[in-house]
Amino acid sequence: MNILITGGAGMLGHLLVNRFKSRHRVIYTTHRDAINIDGAEQMSWDLTQGRKALSGIDAVIHTAAMTNVDGCEKDPGQAHQSNVAATRNMVNSVPGAQVIYISTDFVFDGTRGNYSESDVPSPLSVYGRTKLEGEGEIPQGGCIIRTSIYGLGSGPQRPGMVEKMIARLRNGETVNGFTDQIFTPVSTGNLALFLEEIMERRLAGIYNIGSSQPCTKYEFMRAAARTFGFDPEAVKPGLSSAVNYLAPRPRDVSLDTTKARNTFKTEAWDLEKSFGFIKTQYLCHQDTKTQKL
Ligand SMILES: NC(=O)c1ccc[n+]([C@@H]2O[C@H](COP(=O)([O-])OP(=O)(O)OC[C@H]3O[C@@H](n4cnc5c(N)ncnc54)[C@H](OP(=O)(O)O)[C@@H]3O)[C@@H](O)[C@H]2O)c1
Repeated sequence: MNILITGGAGMLGHLLVNRFKSRHRVIYTTHRDAINIDGAEQMSWDLTQGRKALSGIDAVIHTAAMTNVDGCEKDPGQAHQSNVAATRNMVNSVPGAQVIYISTDFVFDGTRGNYSESDVPSPLSVYGRTKLEGEGEIPQGGCIIRTSIYGLGSGPQRPGMVEKMIARLRNGETVNGFTDQIFTPVSTGNLALFLEEIMERRLAGIYNIGSSQPCTKYEFMRAAARTFGFDPEAVKPGLSSAVNYLAPRPRDVSLDTTKARNTFKTEAWDLEKSFGFIKTQYLCHQDTKTQKL
C-alpha cells in the first residue's frame, strides 16, 4: 500500500511512520521540523498553504493539526487554518484515497461522559470546535477516529508528556494528576494496530477508539509512574478546575467504545500493557542514545 501520513514529526505521526514503513511505502509530511525517518519518504508541506496533486496514494492518515488547546484559543484564525482548511487541502490532494482523520474526544463538552458515536458533539474550546469542523471535510467513505492518545514524543527535541513526567520523577519531584478529568486514552502503539485494520478492511464512518475502562488523569499518571518503577505516591491529586487555563477543559470525555469492540479484531490495551510497551520503546531510545555517545 502507498500510505501518506501527515504530521510525521508529531507524537502519533512519527510512531505510525516507523510502524508502517517496513510493510508499506510510506510518505510523511513535515512542517516546521524536518525530521528524517530512514526507510520512508519525507515531504515538506505546510498544509495551510494549499493542495498538492498527489497520485497513487491508497490511504491517508491525517494526524497533522494545531494541538495546543490554549494556543488554539489564543489564535482561532490559525486554529481554523490548521485544523479545517489544512484538512480540506489534504482531502483535495488525494482523490480516490481512503482518508482517515484523527479527531478528538474534545468534540464533547464533558458534562456527561460515556459518549457514543451518535451523541451530538458540543465542544467547549476552539480546538474542539475546529477539530469537529475538520471532521466535516472528510469525504464519504472516509473514517473519523475520536480518541485521546498518549505515547513518546518524536525525539529529544520534542519530548511527550510521558518523558517529561519521567524526568521530573527521576529528579525526585512530585507531579500533579487531575482527579476531575476523566478520559479513555489509547496509546499510540495500540492505535496503530486499529489504523492498520481500518486500512486493510477499508472501514468507513466514525469510531470511538479508547481504553475499555475510563480513568482519571490522576489514575493514569499513577499507572505510568508504577510501570516506570517510581513510587506512585509521587503523583499527587490535583484539580484541573484550579488551573487558570485559557481554554475551558471538559470534565468527563470518556468514550463508549462498544461500536469499536463489535467491529475490530484489534483489542484495546489496558494502561499496564500500554505503559509496558511505551517503557520498552523508551529504554530502546535510551540505549540508542548511549550507543551514539
Ligand atoms: N495528543 C493528544 O492527547 C490528542 C488527543 C486527541 C486527539 N489528538 C489528535 O491526534 C492527532 C495527532 O496528535 P499528536 O499529539 O501526535 O500531535 P502533535 O504531536 O502536536 O503533532 C501534530 C503535527 O501536525 C503538524 N502540523 C501542524 N500544523 C501543520 C500544518 N499547517 N501543516 C503541516 N503539518 C502541520 C505538526 O508539525 P510542526 O510541529 O512541525 O508544526 C506536528 O508534526 C491530532 O490530529 C490531534 O488533534 C491528539
